[in-house]
Amino acid sequence: MASQVLTCLEDFEKRAKEILPKTVFDYYRSGADGEQTLRDNLAAYSRWRLRPRVLRDVSKVSTSVQVLGAQLVSPVAVGATGFHCMAHPEGELASARACAASGTLMMVSTFSTKSLEDVFKAATGSPCWFQLYVQQDQDATEQLVRRAERAGYTALVLTVDTPYVGRRLDDVRNRFVLPSHLRLCNFKEDDTIHGVGPTQNDSAFALFVKQSLNPSLAWEHVHWLRSITSLPIILKGILTAEDAREAVNYGVDGILVSNHGARQLDGVLSTLDALPEVVAAVSGRIEVYIDGGVQRGTDVLKALALGAQAVFIGRPVLWGLAVNGENGVRQVLELLQDELSLAMAFSGCRTVKEITPDLLTRTSYL
Ligand code: FNR
Repeated sequence: MASQVLTCLEDFEKRAKEILPKTVFDYYRSGADGEQTLRDNLAAYSRWRLRPRVLRDVSKVSTSVQVLGAQLVSPVAVGATGFHCMAHPEGELASARACAASGTLMMVSTFSTKSLEDVFKAATGSPCWFQLYVQQDQDATEQLVRRAERAGYTALVLTVDTPYVGRRLDDVRNRFVLPSHLRLCNFKEDDTIHGVGPTQNDSAFALFVKQSLNPSLAWEHVHWLRSITSLPIILKGILTAEDAREAVNYGVDGILVSNHGARQLDGVLSTLDALPEVVAAVSGRIEVYIDGGVQRGTDVLKALALGAQAVFIGRPVLWGLAVNGENGVRQVLELLQDELSLAMAFSGCRTVKEITPDLLTRTSYL
């Protein structure tokens, strides 16, 4: 299989499954509980069909977009996922280099296994956003913000869907723990996950989160964050028009429509199904992005047609990293970008601006 050509993101996942230890693959792959939302994040893309326009001279197609003022080669960016060093020894450094080489941005997790400063340096000037979890210790949270500011991050992404960690059954069954040679490099040594062991009902990671993240997370924390930093703030994990309007009222700069890759509340609607109401509620006042279940260029096209400004991918990056480190992530990003470019050409869209809602029709086939 090593020399087999990997033609699409599913091929990367299959290959990664052969390479990674089962506990690691399961940790990356799984969703919460019965995984209804995990399946739905993927299926939602099949419920829309394309209405292509023809005879439009598509000899030149540009996938380039502006995201919070930064020019990106493509609207496909890397979302925050923890523990990249379980997939490859260079971990987040390899992912950051791949983003820089592919001209896109990387969102770096609070739970990275390389320090946020080192990851930023590896991106060599390519834009990086820092994903922030509000800790029980507010001073420690502020320290993370200051470190991200000093390092050069251009936005903070506040994850709002994780007062606790969702129940991922594979992790409970596998008694998942972070391998002992890895560290959560944005935390002090003695704060790490290694002090916590799994129980019959919870993975060590879920228990660690219970000890460190703040379950009283509320809109006042958004207000607090707005008051202590001038960096743009994006809320990650909004799924309704009501919360989208509230987010605008609290002065944030963007919303990432996300259900955390279906790892939190099982049974929530797919992100593609949530996107239109959020876009309508925001009505152009701030930027809206999406993540969850994006597997091919036509998925990106559909998300953009429904009003997303950019699309973030989580698991596919980890599959690329496992398969071939920096080059694997680069291949994943470039594959999606090439697929998007071809899908745009077939649809008669020469620029991302030409991707509009009339490109889509809702299907009743499924
Ligand atoms: C995540 N996600 C996540 N989100 C976040 O805000 N902070 C984090 O540390 C993580 N860690 C993480 C680890 C793994 C293994 C996964 C799969 C996901 C959620 C992530 O940012 C994103 O919302 C989803 O991964 C998007 O769905 P897809 O692209 O994986 O389908």
